[in-house]
Amino acid sequence: MQGSKNAALPVLAASLMVPGVTTLTNCPDILDVACMCSLLEHVGAKVSRRKKTLTVDASGIVCHKLPREYVTRMRSSVVLAGPMLGRCREIAMTYPGGCVIGDRPIDMHIRALERLGVTFFDEQGILYARCGRLRGNTVVLPFPSVGATQNVVMAAALAEGITKIEGCAAEPEIVALCDFLNGAGARIQGGGSRRITVEGVKSLHESTYRVEADRIVAGTYLIGTLAAGGEVFLENAPAGQMESVLELTESMGAILRVCPDGIWVRAGGTVFSPKTVETGVYPAFPTDLQSPLLVALCRAQSQSSLTERIFNGRFAVAEELNKMGACIWVEQNRAVIQGKAALAGCHVTAKELRGGAALVLAGVCAKGGTVVSNRHFIDRGYEDIVRDLRGLGVDIDGEK
Ligand code: UD1
Repeated sequence: MQGSKNAALPVLAASLMVPGVTTLTNCPDILDVACMCSLLEHVGAKVSRRKKTLTVDASGIVCHKLPREYVTRMRSSVVLAGPMLGRCREIAMTYPGGCVIGDRPIDMHIRALERLGVTFFDEQGILYARCGRLRGNTVVLPFPSVGATQNVVMAAALAEGITKIEGCAAEPEIVALCDFLNGAGARIQGGGSRRITVEGVKSLHESTYRVEADRIVAGTYLIGTLAAGGEVFLENAPAGQMESVLELTESMGAILRVCPDGIWVRAGGTVFSPKTVETGVYPAFPTDLQSPLLVALCRAQSQSSLTERIFNGRFAVAEELNKMGACIWVEQNRAVIQGKAALAGCHVTAKELRGGAALVLAGVCAKGGTVVSNRHFIDRGYEDIVRDLRGLGVDIDGEK
C-alpha cells in the first residue's frame, strides 16, 4: 500500500522547520507530493527522491513568497503558513486551491495563527502574514479542521511558551504529524485527542520518518472490491485507522479478515443496502471515501441515502455516475441512491481526485468500456490506479 498523501503533505511542510535534513521513507509518488516538493524548492529547500525515500534539506530558506501556480493547485499548501512563520517570520501567498468540493475557506487557520501573534493582511488577493517570535496561547477551534489543527501545531512547536489547542481534529494524520515533530525534538502531547498541548522549543533537529500506509487508498480498493466482487489482499492496509470503513463494508456484505500485514477482502457481488450513511470527522466514515462509496451504493439491493457532513458540494460525481446508468438524486448535502443500477460504460470526466477514482471503480463494475478523462486529478492521490487495478485482473489501460 502506498504511503499516505494526507500524512506526507503536512510532514513535508513541517520539514521546513528543520534547519537541516529530513528523510521521509515510504513517501508516495503522487502529483500532490510533487507539487509540495516544488513549493519547498521554491523557498530554498533542496529536495531529492530515491525510490520511496524523499530527502529535504531546509538548511537555507531564501524566500517567503509561495508561487501562485502551485498554491492554487493544492489546498494543503496552506499548511506551509505555520512552518514558514515559525522559521522565517513572514509569508506571502495567494489563497489556496485544491479539489473543487465546495467552500473551503481558511478563516480558522488565520484566526488560530493570529492567537499566536501573527498579523495578516490582504492586498489585491495576496495574503501576507508577519510575526515576531511566535507566542504560545490558548487556541479554540470552532470545528475540528484537519489543516487548521496541523497549522497551529506546527506554529506552536517553535513558539515561545505553551500553546493549548482545544477542539482539535483527531485524524491519524494529526498523530503522524505530532510523531514526526516529536521525533525532531518538538514537545507535543495529546495528538489524536481533541486537546493538544505544545511546549515550544527553540529549534528542531534532523530526523528520519516513515510515512504510514494510506487509509483512503486502501478504503478505495476495499469499496471497489465490494462493488465489483472478487477477492483482494490489501497489503499493509492500516486496519486500525479504518474501523468505520470496515464496519460499514462488512454490513454491506464484504467478508473481511484483518491480519497483522493487511486486510483480506472477499465479496460475492451482492451488496446489501445500509439504508443511511453519513460522513463525519474521524473516527466516523471519511468524506474522502464518500465518492467511492456511492459506486457501491449504486450496486446495492435497495435504496439508500448518503449525507455529506464535512464539505458542501462534494456530490459532483453523481452527475457522471448517472450518465453510466446510476440513479442518484442530490439535494444539498444528501444523496439518495436508487440501488440495483446496471452500470454501462461511456465517456465520463473526472472533476476532482476522489470522484475521479470513483468513476474508475464504476468503470470496473460497468458493462462495456468506460473512458475517464482528466486522469491528472486521480494522479494527485493515487500512485498508479491503472497499475493497481490491472494487478487485480481488471482490463484497464491509461497513460500517465
Ligand atoms: C483534510 C484532507 C482532506 C479531507 C479533510 C477532511 C489533507 C491534505 N486533506 O483537508 O483530504 O477530506 O481533511 O477530513 O489532509 N473549514 C473552514 N475554515 C477553515 C478550515 C476548514 O470553514 O479555515 C471547513 C472546510 O471548508 C470543511 C471543514 O472545515 O467544510 C473541514 O475541513 P478541513 O478539516 O480543514 O479539511 P482540510 O484540512 O482542507
